[in-house]
Amino acid sequence: MTAPVLFVTCALPYANGPLHLGHLVGYVQADVWVRAQRMQGREVRFVCADDAHGTPIMLAAEAAGETPERFIRRIQESHERDFAEFLVAFDHYHSTHSEENRELAAFVFERLKAAGLIRRERIRQLFDPERQMFLPDRYVRGECPRCGATDQYGDNCEVCGATYSPTELKNPRSALSGAIPKLQESEHLFFRLSACEPFLRRWLAGEVAHPAVRAKLMEWVEQGLRDWDITRDPPYFGFPIPGEKDKFFYVWLDAPIGYLASLKALCRRTGEDFAPYLDPASPIEMHHFLGKDIVNFHGLFWPAMLHGAGLKTPSRLHVNGYLTVDGAKMSKSRGTFILARTYLDCGLPPEALRYYLATRLGPGVEDLDLDLKDFAQRVNADLVGKFINIAARSTALLSRAALSLGPPPSESEAAGETRERAQVLWQHAIAELEGVFPDYSAGEYGRALRRIMSVADRVNEYFAAEAPWRLLQQASAREDLRLILGTALQSFRALAIALAPVLPDTARRVAALFRETPAWRASEIGRWLAPRELAPYEPLWTRIEAANIAAMQERSREPSGTQAAPERQSSTPAATLGDFERIELRVARIIAAERVEGADRLLKLRLDVGPLGERTVFAGIRAAYPDPERLRDRLVILVANLEPRRMRFGVSEGMVLAASEEGGLPRLLTVDDGAKPGMRVR
Ligand code: 2FM
Ligand code: ZN
Repeated sequence: MTAPVLFVTCALPYANGPLHLGHLVGYVQADVWVRAQRMQGREVRFVCADDAHGTPIMLAAEAAGETPERFIRRIQESHERDFAEFLVAFDHYHSTHSEENRELAAFVFERLKAAGLIRRERIRQLFDPERQMFLPDRYVRGECPRCGATDQYGDNCEVCGATYSPTELKNPRSALSGAIPKLQESEHLFFRLSACEPFLRRWLAGEVAHPAVRAKLMEWVEQGLRDWDITRDPPYFGFPIPGEKDKFFYVWLDAPIGYLASLKALCRRTGEDFAPYLDPASPIEMHHFLGKDIVNFHGLFWPAMLHGAGLKTPSRLHVNGYLTVDGAKMSKSRGTFILARTYLDCGLPPEALRYYLATRLGPGVEDLDLDLKDFAQRVNADLVGKFINIAARSTALLSRAALSLGPPPSESEAAGETRERAQVLWQHAIAELEGVFPDYSAGEYGRALRRIMSVADRVNEYFAAEAPWRLLQQASAREDLRLILGTALQSFRALAIALAPVLPDTARRVAALFRETPAWRASEIGRWLAPRELAPYEPLWTRIEAANIAAMQERSREPSGTQAAPERQSSTPAATLGDFERIELRVARIIAAERVEGADRLLKLRLDVGPLGERTVFAGIRAAYPDPERLRDRLVILVANLEPRRMRFGVSEGMVLAASEEGGLPRLLTVDDGAKPGMRVR
């Protein structure tokens, strides 16, 4: 009998900003788990999506001067790019603002209604009379009803820790308009979570999460479950509730349904039947990876909703803690609020972060720390110094001796003692590495990697003790040399297989070195690869340099301009009018925009500068404009008298102006339609 399919999801990132390193913890954790399961022969459907609805996204789009649809599309593109570069390989990436999700949300809701699990109640909430909208708790500020601290959020006080409802705040103000909110009544629909208590007790009695997570969830159940408000009034970016007038689903209702929507879209693409994924009787397992801040949604509302709707409930929640950087919460002023993109732009290898995070991950919900000094040291010491070192040294000697990989110790013609020692090492290596995949399955990544590095240590010790370079000149010891180098290299290959879930790209390159197709199974670890010629050795890794890390921190630091002297709110020295006039700014029209092969950050722009003719400019804006075609005909501002710069791809004849946040996506400055190419900007 084949094992049931695993349906695996990651928490859906909000479509309101770029990914940062804190996000990556959960995604890397899930991706490693999925790869390890696949290598053990399990079939997996691994999906994710952008979480596109809700008030913050609606307001962010408004602030950016875009429609929410356009805004979320742009953010989703950046998320997908970042995931791909960090080798987080979903089978499908979707959006909660999709037809599949609209249908599934309506379907679940109708089922819940039919089961008598939806009720109505008129409630009073704070309403912003200027913006004409109800205010989510976070958008009300006022004085804490307990300690009197000023400027506190509507749901809790950051000074004394009290939690309360926004109507209890003293002197409340709308954070959006500053207006005094008034109480207004509106009818809302509630999901009767309270009625699901018996189910939740049963569900939580299973092995559905780490014991600490289950204990927390049980604590909430014991405190008494309150029904859940699933309605939002307009204006709201979300799905209208079918059959209701001017009511929308609360974002947290359709967000987890987005898991199913993404899977459904995947099934449609591949032709697989989606129905078994909903069927409570099917053996399919459903695994959710998420951060500990959203355990209530995944461990109470979501399973209760699914059960109430007669659908399959989650098999297991894999909950991770928060990421700290250098021992503290990520902070912009310390340069530790690091965007995934900034990390990549500073030339740091994605696999290095995967490795480091994995060394710190266990099955529990403890926070994990990215210590930037330790990060470089550990990656260099473990991966370059221990792991890659084996291949670099062995292949170098192998090719100097013009040897190929030989047979295992038992069939080798080396001297008896050499064979024995090779056999001992090989047996030790594979026996220890057999434990790695069970560790991955149990979420014990740190333990798996410690095992792997202890084997790498042993192989290096073996290599040093055998001192194979001393045999290079001895014609009678060729088989000994071949066996020693072969044993080191076969052990290296076994290490690479064990590391493959964490370092998939390195694994691919190691497979190529051994002239294998890279679809390694975990069971390959114990197999001595048949004799063969190796492919030429290409360096597999380079050391992480402190300078790259320093650059990343610098780029992540909030510009010092925010602390500038009050008389001048800028971070650069004062310029005279003359300075400004030396720079010739001209309006230019984009005639063509295209990607540059081999330069991930650049777009090549062909510009019409009116009487000044045409210019070519290479601009580092590709991340923000994945579809460069659309830039055609945009009017932009060109620095026209910049010295031409020779680049690898051609000469850049000027610079176009763009704005960006520190480490954020650059946005082109554009000009009103009335302007003409060539006009001077003054
Ligand atoms: O907390 C968050 O970032 C949410 N966007 C996670 C949603 S997960 C799921 F339920 F959709
Ligand atoms: Zn307080």
